[in-house]
Amino acid sequence: MTLNVRTFDAALGAEVRDVDLSNPPDDETFAAIEEAYNEHSVLLFREQSIDEVQHLAFSRRFGDLEVHVLDQYLHPEHPEILIVSNVMDGDRHVGIYDAGRYWHTDLSYMAVPSRGSLLYAIEVPHDEDGKPLGDTLFASTSAAYDALSDSMKSRIADLKAEFSLANRHAKLIADGDANAELEDRHHDRAPPAVHKIVRTHPITGRKSIYVNEGQTARILDLPEDEARDLLEKLCTHCTKPEFVYRHKWRPGDLLMWDNIPTQHLAICDYALPQRRYLHRTTLRGTPPQ
Ligand code: SIN
Repeated sequence: MTLNVRTFDAALGAEVRDVDLSNPPDDETFAAIEEAYNEHSVLLFREQSIDEVQHLAFSRRFGDLEVHVLDQYLHPEHPEILIVSNVMDGDRHVGIYDAGRYWHTDLSYMAVPSRGSLLYAIEVPHDEDGKPLGDTLFASTSAAYDALSDSMKSRIADLKAEFSLANRHAKLIADGDANAELEDRHHDRAPPAVHKIVRTHPITGRKSIYVNEGQTARILDLPEDEARDLLEKLCTHCTKPEFVYRHKWRPGDLLMWDNIPTQHLAICDYALPQRRYLHRTTLRGTPPQ
């Protein structure tokens, strides 16, 4: 079985062609997709037309799914789908409108972070000339790790950091989002978690840098100034242009990414009446190593 895979001209990512996800891929095709996913970290399937049930069925081939902590943004009939959208129903946001506002890795603030996410674009905003808006940037944190000096690799080898959803929301509030207040139930489900800042991928064995701007609160066991400087330095390093792929969305794109060796950022360069509406499933992970 040869899967038609075109790698992007970037440190990560590839497009898979000639696969129609509305028909469940046979086992051989699925195995090839999974292999490409592990190799390229970000996979794009263009021109798909899938409903919620087909999206869920394809996602479940990779394993169990998460129900997102921010339960106010779940699909009303399919709680394993998180709605990512700026669309309003009266004064209520129908989906998470600020997803991806800071560089982050999905669910890095959970004790067991997510393996990956599958985001399906239904409506994509565009400007008057038809140019798509709301791009998403992906950085390869394994390429970023490989590019570190040997002395930096040994400096960070055993360090740990605290990750927290509250950290992200404190940033949103500081940046003027008055709606970003978390409820007690969110804090209860997602207390701060501690992870090593160098992760080893359980399948590929590749190492990656595991800190991000949005959800890493602090590096532990270092003097405060040194911890802050190191966190800033690593976050800046991970998102250098040479490690980044920029995705320009089209309706019908199914984009999936591996949350272990990547982080991502959504560009908020649109506003209603320009509508952005996507469905995301989130794959449950395994305890980080
Ligand atoms: C996300 O962080 O999962 C959403 C990314 C996006 O809205 O492009």
